[in-house]
Amino acid sequence: MSNYQEPPLLSPDQALARLKALPRPWSGDYLAMYSNWLGGIVTDPWLMSVPIDDHLVHRGDGVFEATKCLNGRIYLFERHLERLKRSATSIHLELPLTRRELTSLATAVIRAGGRRECMLRIFLSRGPGGFSTNPYECPQAGVYLVASLIHPPSEDIYELGANLGVSQVPAKSGFFAGVKSCNYLPNVLLKREAITHGWDFAICLDPDGYLAEGSTENMGLVDQDGFLLLPPPEHILEGTTAKRTVELARRLVERGELAGVARRHLQVDELKTAAEVMLFGTTLDVLPVSRIDGRPVADGKVGPVAQKLRRLILDDIANNHEMSTAVWE
Ligand SMILES: Cc1ncc(COP(=O)(O)O)c(C=O)c1O
Repeated sequence: MSNYQEPPLLSPDQALARLKALPRPWSGDYLAMYSNWLGGIVTDPWLMSVPIDDHLVHRGDGVFEATKCLNGRIYLFERHLERLKRSATSIHLELPLTRRELTSLATAVIRAGGRRECMLRIFLSRGPGGFSTNPYECPQAGVYLVASLIHPPSEDIYELGANLGVSQVPAKSGFFAGVKSCNYLPNVLLKREAITHGWDFAICLDPDGYLAEGSTENMGLVDQDGFLLLPPPEHILEGTTAKRTVELARRLVERGELAGVARRHLQVDELKTAAEVMLFGTTLDVLPVSRIDGRPVADGKVGPVAQKLRRLILDDIANNHEMSTAVWE
């Protein structure tokens, strides 16, 4: 028997009262949100909304960035802004704000949220318009920034290593892989597949069957000759973390702890013969992978290169102020 009841027609006051009282999963995580639609910052989660006719909602027509603020500084913020600009330009969306203005906004939102440690997401949308696919029906781009609590993975997974699966979900290819758009359906299906199989993460294959990337993370491996290898940029999103890790990895090469770093197509079978496999991403930093669908990578223990690279990134976050943007002094 259905519990369906005819919905009441709500007055604005009734609707507002309901909005305030509605349980919203995860709302305890939301610290502050700016929207150019509202023209200000709010800290009440029930006010954190996007208009339904924004093409972001019904067409995924927008681009975004997810950044993290640690100890009052947003790590790699300039690089995230560069990628945001590249993504926006790719979909013919003009950045409605200068970089300096976006930085001021990010600072204001994080401060309104009151935390030195948080995630800061920036969404640029086509903006409110009609309900077609026509981007020209939207007079003004939308700008939304949200600060929320940060949930880093537990230390256990860094010590034990993650269990990775190879997915059946087709990767976004070429152009669409390179744009950090709000159209993440393949990434959603990838994540879902990981969860249903009991993997910690899933990796998809590019149209030619080579290893590509995870739902929101890049991958790399260390081969038996001691080279750190990452897929070429054609069918992946170029991660800020992977890029920084590769820069820092040069120190390991100089010290003779790594033979070299290269980008080339990686066969699925190379996961079986690799000395180490690892993932890179804003929330993960560098995460070692110790199993592929339950089968051990090498001896099944976390490898030294992934551990050293993680330490280099953590040190970079903590001490290299050239790579981060101050929010709180
Ligand atoms: C598809 C995809 N690949 C890779 C990454 C890793 O990028 P970053 O290191 O900049 O977080 C992300 C980040 O969210 C992503 O969405």
